Amino acid sequence: MEHAKALDVFAEDPNVGGLAAWTYDNDEIMELEKEMVFRRNWVIAGHVSEIPNAGDFLTFDVADERALIIRGKDGEVRAFHNLCRHRGSRVVDSDYGTCKHAIVCPFHGWSYDLTGGLRGVPMPHTFPGLDKREMGLKPVDMEIWHGFIYVRFKSDGDGMSVAEIMADVEDEAAMYRMEEMVPLSDRYRTEYDINWKATVDVDNEGYHVPIAHPSLDDLYGETYRDESLDCGVTRSYGTFGGKQHKLWSVRNYTEILPEVEHLPESHRKAWLYLGCFPTNNFTIYPDSVSFYQFLPVSTRRVALVGRTFGLPDDRREMKLARYLANRIDKFTVEEDIQLTKWSWEGMRSSAYDDFFLSSTEAGVRAFHDQMRQALPVMTLNEAPEPGTVAAVNAEMAESA
Ligand code: FES
Repeated sequence: MEHAKALDVFAEDPNVGGLAAWTYDNDEIMELEKEMVFRRNWVIAGHVSEIPNAGDFLTFDVADERALIIRGKDGEVRAFHNLCRHRGSRVVDSDYGTCKHAIVCPFHGWSYDLTGGLRGVPMPHTFPGLDKREMGLKPVDMEIWHGFIYVRFKSDGDGMSVAEIMADVEDEAAMYRMEEMVPLSDRYRTEYDINWKATVDVDNEGYHVPIAHPSLDDLYGETYRDESLDCGVTRSYGTFGGKQHKLWSVRNYTEILPEVEHLPESHRKAWLYLGCFPTNNFTIYPDSVSFYQFLPVSTRRVALVGRTFGLPDDRREMKLARYLANRIDKFTVEEDIQLTKWSWEGMRSSAYDDFFLSSTEAGVRAFHDQMRQALPVMTLNEAPEPGTVAAVNAEMAESA
């Protein structure tokens, strides 16, 4: 599938360097990234199938923000800050759960209804100035895109919707019926001692696949193509079958995978990746869709978070195919984490200069361009004086 808006990021600016090494290891940059990147962009919080019934909720934390996504008695999904209006406690303390009729804060017991309104407080006579109508849970921007729930903690009332950002891949995403999918795995969260941008860098290009990912390379080989679309989405696509696959998981996966009849021929034997700034990623097989993200925990620590979904299908061969697809992904993640560690360690070496990107690494360049746009201070080759990074960034943003 060709996309009319495929972008050649090197045509206008042939800069083959990357973000300066200091930006990967600076606590002041981390604070700016929380504010300008993670609070002000859409991030995937979950999928509607994770909260199927009234009162079901899930939570999502990033960048010192905490979201509570809950389904109301009317069936609507709503998002709030997971923040009690009394003294700031979490109002729910688990990743998933169900509140039958009310959300009750575990600290002093303030209770909220499923639409976020403050319902009651213990000892109300001790709060003479309390207006319950003003003290409901604070809403968070939320949008559901093909069943996936995105939240945005700060927007100033503007910015593109998820649907607008993903418009170029809308038709392709619709083929998979992701909104009808159900969880095939538990949600996972694994932390690594790496800066989050280094993990995104490795994820954003396929140049390394023939060398570093034997399973993926065996799966789609030379059919693989990367595209950076001018809406900020990165798309990769490769096909399989029609050749002798060498590796056990890949060979069996391609042989066992049953026909997925709702997909067109172009996607029945295809592997697809869709990535969107800052770190909303989908790996899509004909049988399943996995989302995953690299979320900063601190400057030097990242959490890999994700979950796999698929259409309900009890066929034995489908279950086997899904197991094998998951096995291929598991190898790929382990390989990528090792590459990321080596790359990030290298940035702290006295011999490190810069990236020297090829045209096949346009996804890395596109990600860096988006970071530079969000934080102009990242265009500097050397770090500003300690304690001045935010001020320098503000000055540069002002004069841009
Ligand atoms: Fe929630 Fe006090 S902080 S009831």
